[in-house]
Amino acid sequence: MKLTPTGTIWMDGEFVPWDHAQIHVLTPSLHYGWGVYEGIRAYPTADGPAVFRLRDHLQRLHDSARVYLMDPGFTVDELTEASLELMRRTGLESGYLRPIVYLGYGAMGVAPALDSTRVAIAAWPWGSYLGEKADEQGCRLMVSSWQRNGIHSVPPSAKATGAYVNSALAKVAAIRAGYDDALMLTPTGHVAEASAANIFAVRDGELITPPVSDNILPGLTRDTVITLARDMGFIVREQSLTRGELYVADEAFLTGTAAEIIPVASVDDRPTSFAGCGPVTKQLRDAFNDVVRGRDTAYRHWLDYVGGSEPDSTPTTDSFAVLETAVSKLADAGGASFDDDSPAAVARREDAADRVVDLMAARAWHGLSAESHGSAQPVATPCIAYVLAADAVAAGGRDTGDRFTHTDEALMLLTLPENFDAVVDRSSQLLGAAPEGRLSAAWQMVDDALRTLNTTRHEWVGADPAIVAAAGWVLVDRIGRLLIAAALVAKAAKGGPAATTELLVNAARRYAWNHLRRPAPEAATATHVQRSADLVRAVVPRESRRAPK
Ligand SMILES: Cc1ncc(COP(=O)(O)O)c(C=O)c1O
Repeated sequence: MKLTPTGTIWMDGEFVPWDHAQIHVLTPSLHYGWGVYEGIRAYPTADGPAVFRLRDHLQRLHDSARVYLMDPGFTVDELTEASLELMRRTGLESGYLRPIVYLGYGAMGVAPALDSTRVAIAAWPWGSYLGEKADEQGCRLMVSSWQRNGIHSVPPSAKATGAYVNSALAKVAAIRAGYDDALMLTPTGHVAEASAANIFAVRDGELITPPVSDNILPGLTRDTVITLARDMGFIVREQSLTRGELYVADEAFLTGTAAEIIPVASVDDRPTSFAGCGPVTKQLRDAFNDVVRGRDTAYRHWLDYVGGSEPDSTPTTDSFAVLETAVSKLADAGGASFDDDSPAAVARREDAADRVVDLMAARAWHGLSAESHGSAQPVATPCIAYVLAADAVAAGGRDTGDRFTHTDEALMLLTLPENFDAVVDRSSQLLGAAPEGRLSAAWQMVDDALRTLNTTRHEWVGADPAIVAAAGWVLVDRIGRLLIAAALVAKAAKGGPAATTELLVNAARRYAWNHLRRPAPEAATATHVQRSADLVRAVVPRESRRAPK
């Protein structure tokens, strides 16, 4: 899986820019594998992103650290707050969180200096673990010749970095042999688990999963599935399984934070009775999806909502609602004065038309799936939130100052060239090829704006954060509007009922004219830079003020 940078990483109590989150090559954990970590997922919900079983994962991190005689130095509560703040700062709507406790630079030797503990938490977007084909048709497992770490070698119930050499050996061998994943056994031949997921078999409507004593990592997804299945009335047995029993299972599936729930199509080329996704697996997977996405209120206690200043949920939706109400009010007022040609009445009608166009543009943007923005998503999200908040204020909404919290986040993300490029690429993709006819004028304006932004990008990207802060809100506004305008043009270009298309074409032209006709914002002058020192202190976190390399 290729990593998508998300702007910042939490390290030992501070947020540092993604590229600055580095450790020394002589860090002992790198040499001897003495470290513990977690994998945690965050999901989109109707109330914004939420992290699934965050505290349980962080408790397991603490437990793993105890096994390895390390004190993380931060409580579960402190790490919970750091994880949620990280989600807010990265602007991720969903993703994977990776906390790690390791030993820092200073001493070397197989018996490590245990007082040099360091902690980091990173987050990035992560989709399907084994790919969509495996999710739909099931994965193919191979029983590995590599035994699962045993209680006499490397404690299997602690999630230690070094222990994963065992999983990696098995998984690499399985992939090279043409399978999706490895199934590992205990020394006595009991099924333990896959390389990074637990396993369940379904036989005659009952679920069986290996017990903790069979060298498994006691997975939190395993625990979730056991709870859900029992609540749904299934019998679940934690008992040893042989490979032979798996060969004749009706259904089998893997569970894990990364894996979620993946049906097993075959084990050693013996297909399960329901080689795709069997009915019990499907039932459990649907229930799981409802739980992690907050649709099943009975298990909401497992979700930690990112909340606070998350850009893509509440503020965006609120701004959207403000905009809609303001537009209907303005339209009513404008409609009443259609026969009135006084300058004031014309100005009011024009204002109403502009707000309608803003709303149509915002709707065009909201019609796109968040996932389709790929690596541009974390940057696009705060930029769009800023634009909507600004439009809501222009439409007469209350200025809560929210938009400046989005500027802060967006700026930090935009100082990384790859983020800037991702958002420019996404705008170009949305815009597509130049259309014929009246829409071409809007297309041209967006395309021009995109180009000018590209030529001046060096003035912000990689620049001193002070300069970025000075030109900041203009840049955030420009990028947000580019994305929105490109979405509107793309929607208008799709065609449809003639009347709607005509309205969309007009809206695209007017939106581009209103917001993108002027040249790109200029680079900051010396005065800007001077003034920005205050802004930097106010909006950019201390650690990201260091000059980028
Ligand atoms: C070896 C191993 N087993 C099982 C699991 C599943 O555990 P969880 O559901 O807590 O992610 C994982 C994933 O972390 C793992 O690495």
